[in-house]
Amino acid sequence: MEIGFLGLGIMGKAMSINLLRHGFKVTVWNRTLSKCDELVEHGASIGETPAAVIKKCKYTIAMLSDPSAALSVIFDKDGVLEQISNGKGYIDMSTVDDDTSLKISEAIKAKGGDFLEAPVSGSKKPAEDGQLVILAAGDKALYDEVLPAFDVLGKKSFYLGEVGNGAKMKLVVNMIMGSMMNAFSEGLTLAERSGLNPATLLDVLDLGAISNAMFKMKGPTMLKNSYSPAFPLKHQQKDMRLALALGDENAVSMPVAAAANEVILFHNIFRCQKNQTNGQYFFSSNFQVNKDETVFFYLIFFLCLMTPP
Ligand SMILES: NC(=O)c1ccc[n+]([C@@H]2O[C@H](COP(=O)([O-])OP(=O)(O)OC[C@H]3O[C@@H](n4cnc5c(N)ncnc54)[C@H](OP(=O)(O)O)[C@@H]3O)[C@@H](O)[C@H]2O)c1
Repeated sequence: MEIGFLGLGIMGKAMSINLLRHGFKVTVWNRTLSKCDELVEHGASIGETPAAVIKKCKYTIAMLSDPSAALSVIFDKDGVLEQISNGKGYIDMSTVDDDTSLKISEAIKAKGGDFLEAPVSGSKKPAEDGQLVILAAGDKALYDEVLPAFDVLGKKSFYLGEVGNGAKMKLVVNMIMGSMMNAFSEGLTLAERSGLNPATLLDVLDLGAISNAMFKMKGPTMLKNSYSPAFPLKHQQKDMRLALALGDENAVSMPVAAAANEVILFHNIFRCQKNQTNGQYFFSSNFQVNKDETVFFYLIFFLCLMTPP
């Protein structure tokens, strides 16, 4: 099966290498084209534009940062719409909101193509190991056709029905995850500051009812202040923001997620400005903000609350 792949960030690179390793022919494109060179070493071909990739491949997967990136590869010059047609399938695996997904679906279908949204649960390591959880929705026939690729990329695929359901499921999952990570960071900080050994806290948590894979995987590295590049914080904040908007639309009050979003937002802005790293802080480094900046954060937070609009 020949597959096009748009977007070679942390996830897209790992996923396309995985497809190549399993015998798929892959044609890649990335906005920063030089990032394609490494994929060529793994056997990929390069498409100069998204349109060129669509023209060449029956199926094309996209893994892009956010709604604006997902829309731009579709609608901009040399974009997907210029070449999508009857018999071609487009699978967007980026994490976006359901409105964005629907816009993309309508545009693709208006040109005769088939569309599937398929955001993933799991990070860099599961992407490298083909252990993602795939949350697909849209054209069922396309889902069935691309299952062999999903089987390589993930440990489990869900087909969730109409377009939007995959996006919503992914946002709910990441909203829970963002809130949990904040509570976890606060707990580790509280343990440390109150004279406990946080490593012992990890052992205690692991033996109880709230043991989970994220605490297990991230806890030990957080205690070493090691925040390896896996899930950019700016993407976690984007997911919290989109999940809160979904809450608004459905009249669901989510004060815990809203507070978690404030912490993530603050951490992302403050750290990024201070270090000029353009958003490249990684999920779980929230622990650092708890340790270093809790007092400062709350000071700014309450000053903002007290300042008239
Ligand atoms: N990392 C994770 O653990 C993880 C887990 C599950 C889901 N996700 C989701 O998967 C998606 C990709 O995540 P990632 O971690 O791979 O992100 P990333 O490393 O930041 O990569 C983002 C990709 O999007 C491209 N891009 C950004 N803006 C663009 C634009 N305007 N036009 C075209 N391309 C654009 C980037 O191209 P350049 O190289 O040119 O910048 C890059 O290829 C996100 O929606 C994220 O929320 C991530």
